Amino acid sequence: MMITVLGLGFVGLTTALGFSKKGFKVYGIDVNQERVAKIKNYEVPFYEPHLDEALREELGQNFIVDASLHEAVNDSKAIIICVGTPGNPDGSANLTYLLSAVKDVFEASEGDFKVIVTKSTVPPSTVSRKVKPYVDQLNQQYNKPIGLASNPEFLREGYAWDDFMNPDRVVIGVEDERSKEVLNQIYLPFNAPVHYVTYNSAEFIKYLSNTLLSTLISFSNEMSMIAEHIGDIDVPSAFKILHQDKRWTGAPANMASYVFPGCGYGGYCLPKDTAALASIAKENGFEAKILEGNLRINDEIMDFMANKIAAAVPNKEATIGILGLAFKSGSDDVRLSPSKFIIEKLLAKGYSRIVAYDPMANEVFDKEFKLPIAYADSLESLVEQADELVLLTSWAEFKQNKELITSKRLFDFRYAFAELPKPPVAAESVA
Ligand SMILES: NC(=O)c1ccc[n+]([C@@H]2O[C@H](COP(=O)([O-])OP(=O)(O)OC[C@H]3O[C@@H](n4cnc5c(N)ncnc54)[C@H](O)[C@@H]3O)[C@@H](O)[C@H]2O)c1
Repeated sequence: MMITVLGLGFVGLTTALGFSKKGFKVYGIDVNQERVAKIKNYEVPFYEPHLDEALREELGQNFIVDASLHEAVNDSKAIIICVGTPGNPDGSANLTYLLSAVKDVFEASEGDFKVIVTKSTVPPSTVSRKVKPYVDQLNQQYNKPIGLASNPEFLREGYAWDDFMNPDRVVIGVEDERSKEVLNQIYLPFNAPVHYVTYNSAEFIKYLSNTLLSTLISFSNEMSMIAEHIGDIDVPSAFKILHQDKRWTGAPANMASYVFPGCGYGGYCLPKDTAALASIAKENGFEAKILEGNLRINDEIMDFMANKIAAAVPNKEATIGILGLAFKSGSDDVRLSPSKFIIEKLLAKGYSRIVAYDPMANEVFDKEFKLPIAYADSLESLVEQADELVLLTSWAEFKQNKELITSKRLFDFRYAFAELPKPPVAAESVA
């Protein structure tokens, strides 16, 4: 199967040479003729380890750069767009190059089915709200069937070759079977998990990755500024000692359980310690924006969850079954537990029939908060009494009783039953 790559920058040249190395015939196209001339001359136009060697091996073999766009597009099943998506002054992504590359493909295409694959990084909803409608409009205008897939790239500059050839995971946003089959074929030679998701999810996963990294960097920088304001703190050593926490190691590292959404943190330590550091930073003349934002988000997520129930359950007489009262599983600590706040919010919204069950914390919760709710003495009894179920603590007992719990409508606010998307069934040949 033939592939065309549009845009031969860091991502495009790596992609083109990578697929070529995996045995596909790949056409490389770039509007920058100076860049193309260099590549034709076996020169990589930027510094990136290993690409020069791959270029030497592949150019004139599987990798072709002297074809016209017309020839390349009509000889290919997949056209991978790797053009730049620079930021506009207001922070939004500039889609000019991307949309113009899409149009170039339609103009060049003679009509056989092919798939445009966007590899350029674009924010979630760009493909579904901007690129797909544009492709649909061009499909009608030119009467040429062209599919669409979104395939974000996770490679790191400096490690681009290895990251591309040995990806941790491949993410493909695709919403029609014909396009999915083409993508399935081109990623077959990569020994990596391939996840087929919606367009929006594919883009979101890319931003989840990059914004986690930028947030961690800003968190660390904010902490370094707090430390400097307080004084007498050896900042780099403090971070290196932080890295000795064994939650950083393992595959997956235990730290991953903190990078997972839920309905907020509670308990004795995280809420008060986060608030106390933000407060002492202020006392020392520094406003800790990430920590204060972090505290605000912990309130907001609980409102968000209570509002979700209110929007879905108009009947205030419905019996709401709460699964879990402890602030986390494996503990009977209910101090500042999200369950307490969410139940209070539901009571305030007028839900008067609330019944709760926790494998360890029923009594301590009742004693501590004296809320006007009932308690069930077993999971079975709770499920039987409830019209709606709300899971707020990820107890093993709940995870082991998925069938029972999902026999009623469930608001799984800890995502206790979440699974990875299922791999697709083997694709038929589309050659
Ligand atoms: N650089 C990275 O590490 C990295 C990693 C992952 C994703 N991305 C994303 O991938 C995309 C490309 O990044 P890059 O660093 O390779 O960009 P780049 O600017 O190095 O390369 C883009 C290339 O596209 C060419 N181009 C523009 N319009 C074209 C058209 N209509 N037809 C053919 N070629 C055209 C340009 O001449 C340029 O050579 C961006 O969306 C970026 O955010 C980059």
